[in-house]
Amino acid sequence: MNILAIETSCDETAAAVVSDGRTVLSSIIRSQSDTHALYGGVVPEIASRAHTEAIVDITRAALDTACCGLDAIDAVAVTCAPGLIGALLTGVSFAKGLAYAAAKPLIPVHHIRGHIAANYIAHPALEPPFVCLVVSGGHTMLVDVRGYTDMSLLGSTRDDAAGEAFDKVARVLGLPYPGGPSVQKLAEGGDPFKYSLPRTVFKETPCDFSFSGLKTAVINLVSNAAQRGEAIDRPSLAASFTRAVSDVLTGASMRAVAAAGYKRMVIAGGVAANTGLRSELALSAGTHEYELYLPPPPLCIDNAAMIASAAYYESLRGDAAYAGPGLNAYANMNVDLLVY
Ligand code: KG4
Ligand code: ZN
Repeated sequence: MNILAIETSCDETAAAVVSDGRTVLSSIIRSQSDTHALYGGVVPEIASRAHTEAIVDITRAALDTACCGLDAIDAVAVTCAPGLIGALLTGVSFAKGLAYAAAKPLIPVHHIRGHIAANYIAHPALEPPFVCLVVSGGHTMLVDVRGYTDMSLLGSTRDDAAGEAFDKVARVLGLPYPGGPSVQKLAEGGDPFKYSLPRTVFKETPCDFSFSGLKTAVINLVSNAAQRGEAIDRPSLAASFTRAVSDVLTGASMRAVAAAGYKRMVIAGGVAANTGLRSELALSAGTHEYELYLPPPPLCIDNAAMIASAAYYESLRGDAAYAGPGLNAYANMNVDLLVY
């Protein structure tokens, strides 16, 4: 089954063709990050307009690269939630029009389910059940993935997402948007044990997260040093911050895998590209004798191949997986309670 997928939930316009959920025939991504970098973060209205301008070319490029026309496509898939509402609407409207004009079925996809499915592309033998740590710009959560489309939320952030914390800390350190890759680069030369930073753990709900205290601690450290005229060891602060985020994410992940009774975990989302987090997770998973699946960085960030993969597994649910022309976009939607 060949699925053409469209992804426009944030600042990447992406289209891909994937066969049977695992074989990528094409994956085209146009990032808007240079445009948004001028403003220090994503400007929703600019993102929507840029998606509208790019979507036709990107979709055409995905079909051309896959060497197939629309006649070889069995279904059109689109991210319909969660994300920036205007950005999502451009993709949903385009996909609805395309599916209608080409007389193809339409499969709506939850963005986070897409991030999780990126692992099926990266690891051909991977099957549920497992626990997935999803760490992106907008979400930080632990998901019990019992089956390809049967999942429930184990815990999530109560305030900032991990990626959001990276982006804010980057700004305080004078680094460009998107913050994650810039903080990672700066941290390479730093001492991760130099600055002592807070880690929040909830005793009652050990799979929940909070990053606002950590973010505020970094902001205060930088502004107090500026007031005193003291220099900050920026690489070491970036490394200490990364270590604090990684400690919290790793600790919660190990508790979640144990609580779910599995021996397998995967990670997903833009922050999953972070080298510090990847090595700390690998170390800890090794100690616990858990299998750990890490997608390669290009599959961690937003792309449409992961949406096509998730759509394939949704399609196995039958009629309930398909939507009509009334499909809407939603800024928020639970990963386990799909209401399209
Ligand atoms: O999954 P994603 O591409 O988009 C969302 O769905 O949000 O994640 C984007 C987030 C941004 O906050 C970005 O700073 C972060 O992922 N990110 C990273 C790295 N690469 C991207 N964070 C830490 N280290 C990285 N190498
Ligand atoms: Zn994402």
